[in-house]
Amino acid sequence: MKKALALILALVMTLALAACGGKAGAGTSGGSASSGAKTYKVGVAIYQFDDNFMTLYRNELQNYFNSLSNDSVKYDITIVDGKNDMAEQNNQIDNFISQGMDAIILNLVQTSSADAAIDKIVKAGIPLILINREPLGDNGDESYKGILDNAKVCYVGADARQSGTYQGEIIRDLANHGDVNGDGKISYIMIEGDPENVDAQYRTEFSIKALTDAGLTVECLDDQIGNWAQAKGQEICANDLAKYGNQVEVVFCNNDAMALGAATSITAAGRTVGTDIYLVGVDALEECQQMVQAGTMTGTVLNDHIGQSHTAVDVTVKALNGESIQNYYWVDYVKVTK
Ligand code: BGC
Repeated sequence: MKKALALILALVMTLALAACGGKAGAGTSGGSASSGAKTYKVGVAIYQFDDNFMTLYRNELQNYFNSLSNDSVKYDITIVDGKNDMAEQNNQIDNFISQGMDAIILNLVQTSSADAAIDKIVKAGIPLILINREPLGDNGDESYKGILDNAKVCYVGADARQSGTYQGEIIRDLANHGDVNGDGKISYIMIEGDPENVDAQYRTEFSIKALTDAGLTVECLDDQIGNWAQAKGQEICANDLAKYGNQVEVVFCNNDAMALGAATSITAAGRTVGTDIYLVGVDALEECQQMVQAGTMTGTVLNDHIGQSHTAVDVTVKALNGESIQNYYWVDYVKVTK
């Protein structure tokens, strides 16, 4: 009798232990359960903290994850700064893998040599949500698109062709189409973002295409790389205004941070936006929206960091729940002219 009781007791204890230690929820792709709540660990690698737009993005990402945490599920988010250094980011990815992250959100430093980084995450079986910078294959051959066939990989972003087109349309729709001196051509300078980001290439190309598609004639006075940075935007614009003076009719900036810098140089050169020069950016940073209202900037394009970060989080949650995800999630840009 005693023996039978001991056996039953042992059996009950084994079952209880198994229930505590086991993973909660069948069919999920990870997470640990303790004190009632299931906790998912998500690693977020940002290309560089020192970037106005990506700062808004990452703060919103964190806030939104927090808002989704409750008594039964928690998201433990680790956000790291790649410092614009691919070697550093590769180490961070290795750490994420060894720390057993349940999902990784990746804003690549270098889109042109991303295959290895992506590959190890895929091999580790960790869901991967790429954001903000769509990778190219290492040979520029879009080989990474094959990786997207993997059910656990996707890209969340905005189609930069649209933002470039909107920038061009803002100028096209001006009464003088940006041709201040009436010589029949729109003379512009282009201040480009980081060439590693396909957004920079597309914005450069499609802003001008919107003008030429409308049958307008353009003249490029200068095209320089400002790496998304305000100080570079200011410097490039100042040099161009000193060199080309009144010939500069339109300043195209691939983003608002550089447009903020350009605005400073425009004022310093005694030029007036809306009267003798036009200025456009992308992102719709709060400060730039106010400038558009005040007329000190011609227009900008909303790069919806809220829509993009929320989509990235929603997709991550889907993947964590073992649900299938699409290859691409696109968030629309919006023209801002007043
Ligand atoms: C944004 C830029 C930002 C860059 C970061 C772009 O989509 O428009 O403002 O600096 O992403 O990679």
